[in-house]
Amino acid sequence: IVSCQVNDIFLECHYSLFMSVGEQGLRGDKGDIGPPGLKGDPGDTGEPGQNGTKGEAGEPGMPGLMGPGGYNGTKGEKGEKGEMGESSTVDKGEKGDKGEPGPPGPKGTKGEKGDLGQPGPPGQRGMHGMKGIRGVKGLRGQRGVKGSKGEPFIQKRSAFSVGLFPSRSFPPPGQPVRFDKIIYNEEGHWDSNISKFNCTYGGVYVFSYYITVRNRPLRAALLVNGIRKLRTRDSLYGQDIDQASNMALIRLSTGDQVWLETVRDWNGVYSSSEDDSTFSGFLLFADATKD
Ligand SMILES: *[C@@H]1O[C@H](CO)[C@@H](O)[C@H](O)[C@H]1NC(C)=O
Ligand SMILES: *[C@@H]1O[C@H](CO)[C@@H](O)[C@H](O)[C@H]1NC(C)=O
Ligand SMILES: *[C@@H]1O[C@H](CO)[C@@H](O)[C@H](O)[C@H]1NC(C)=O
Ligand SMILES: *[C@@H]1O[C@H](CO)[C@@H](O)[C@H](O)[C@H]1NC(C)=O
Repeated sequence: IVSCQVNDIFLECHYSLFMSVGEQGLRGDKGDIGPPGLKGDPGDTGEPGQNGTKGEAGEPGMPGLMGPGGYNGTKGEKGEKGEMGESSTVDKGEKGDKGEPGPPGPKGTKGEKGDLGQPGPPGQRGMHGMKGIRGVKGLRGQRGVKGSKGEPFIQKRSAFSVGLFPSRSFPPPGQPVRFDKIIYNEEGHWDSNISKFNCTYGGVYVFSYYITVRNRPLRAALLVNGIRKLRTRDSLYGQDIDQASNMALIRLSTGDQVWLETVRDWNGVYSSSEDDSTFSGFLLFADATKD
């Protein structure tokens, strides 16, 4: 009986010994099933398997470690003012740090009008305005101071008024009637010697005569430098009494002479205690002169 070793190689050596020594024996019985072989070498790596189905969500993990501080957030809007808290009896805590200045509050109501500012610099001169309406008459002003003494005014005077004496009635014609009865001749411009008026100041003169006519008719004329300027006629006879007269303004120059004459034999110039025949003249206004 050959002892069998587990080892395969050792068993084979027993078989070679029997064959060389004795006769061939009978075929032995089939041996028992051998021990299992040695473990084989590992096979090649297989193809990767199909992706598995998604597993169920796991249990929530443990909270992680505290992260670093985030960025400062934007400033929030200012909250409503809180209601007044009830007074507490607790001791007052320490004064907190000064808070950050809040955002600008809502626009307030319009303030009161400020004081008047300093006047600005004068602007440019404006355009001329329309002419205004005439104002009311002003009050009478105060009396002015007395003026200086003016130039002495020397009024030029020249006048005469003469009459006929009764003895000179019916004067001879063609000659100056002799009016010797002086009524006025302060300036002496009537010359009784020649019965003529001498013009001293040039100007405009008034001459008039009023002749009483009686017994004879009358023709009389007023002459200036021998030229007849006025004529008067009155035809009267008998004891009737009449008046013949005339008057005129005549311009004279210095040196001119004026007198009265009768013409032809019509010289009924009459005078008595009751009847006068007069001849008058005066300067109305003198010509303007430098002196
Ligand atoms: C399995 O998953 C991988 C990774 O997500 C992917 O690339 C691959 O295509 C998948 N295969 C199949 C057959 O779905
Ligand atoms: C956040 O605010 C604090 C307090 O004002 C300040 O000290 C700090 O520097 C700020 N940080 C950043 C990143 O602005
Ligand atoms: C009047 O004029 C004449 C002639 O110029 C002159 O002879 C005479 O003296 C004058 N008479 C008077 C009063 O001036
Ligand atoms: C008139 O004549 C007389 C005598 O000739 C003379 O004395 C007198 O002065 C004259 N009068 C005038 C006003 O000329």
